[in-house]
Amino acid sequence: PAIIARIRKLLKERDAVLVAHYYVHPDIQDLAESTGGVVSDSLEMARFGHEHPGKTVVVAGVRFMGETAKILNPEKRVLMPELEAECSLDLATPIDEFSKFCDQHPDRVVVVYANTSAAVKARADWMVTSSIAEKIVAHLHAQGKKILFAPDKHLGDYIQRQTGADMLMWNASCVVHDEFKAQQLEEMKLSHPKAKVLVHPESPPSVIAMADFVGSTTGIIMAAERMKAPEYIVATDGGILHQMRKKLPGVNFIEAPTAGKGATCQSCAHCPWMAMNGLGNLLEVLERGHNEVRVDPEIGRKAKVCIERMLDFAK
Ligand code: MLT
Repeated sequence: PAIIARIRKLLKERDAVLVAHYYVHPDIQDLAESTGGVVSDSLEMARFGHEHPGKTVVVAGVRFMGETAKILNPEKRVLMPELEAECSLDLATPIDEFSKFCDQHPDRVVVVYANTSAAVKARADWMVTSSIAEKIVAHLHAQGKKILFAPDKHLGDYIQRQTGADMLMWNASCVVHDEFKAQQLEEMKLSHPKAKVLVHPESPPSVIAMADFVGSTTGIIMAAERMKAPEYIVATDGGILHQMRKKLPGVNFIEAPTAGKGATCQSCAHCPWMAMNGLGNLLEVLERGHNEVRVDPEIGRKAKVCIERMLDFAK
């Protein structure tokens, strides 16, 4: 379609690269891939945007992803199709309250999930994403460190069970993953006896307990490639199924069940903020150059320390 051709042309003209999250619309994922950008998780999005020589990075995702790109590349222009695309975890971690919580526990290393504001990252010692959180916590635990972990309590509890680390948790959850329900999943498994269950660790513990594999989006895709099952039930945002179906044609991917359907569930396993990214606002942002992500330079400098610590650890 014409709109896709125009976006392609403008990306070139503006020396811009498109980085997209697995949870955005398939059309945007395909565009990122076919224009030399990337479709990935937040860790790889951050790394890719950082290393790419383009002058402008267009981030199709939610705000913290745009902020992370800007913090790592203060000299680049970072644009987002929709600046109001939030994250429930970020919203549930206001800096003032979080800072007080940290002040009350000065003996703990502060580890925050990528899904937080720049100000929260600036207060932290480490940033982690779901693909590396367990490794970093295990590393700190091995050094005898006690940890304050924020904001996702399900992810934190899961890592705590895996590593045995001493972790004090902030209490928030993701509106998408929190909706997966163990009982309905049990019923679904009965009608799909050959299916393997792949679960994101932001899901409730009862759902995690039923998983054949628990991991980040990248981890889930790799697990499906490795396990070679004829069917998978996938408990994370449904946006990921696009890549899974492309990589494994002929395999049946089923979205894990949520509490309700339509009006009765908040998200029905699709993040409403990720869904704000569309071809229309992507084109507009490239045409007009508006929706530039801005981060207070002082906060950005502080936040960069904990992001780079993670990127160095990941090397
Ligand atoms: C991210 O890091 O992008 C999100 O936590 C989803 C994931 O990749 O697991």
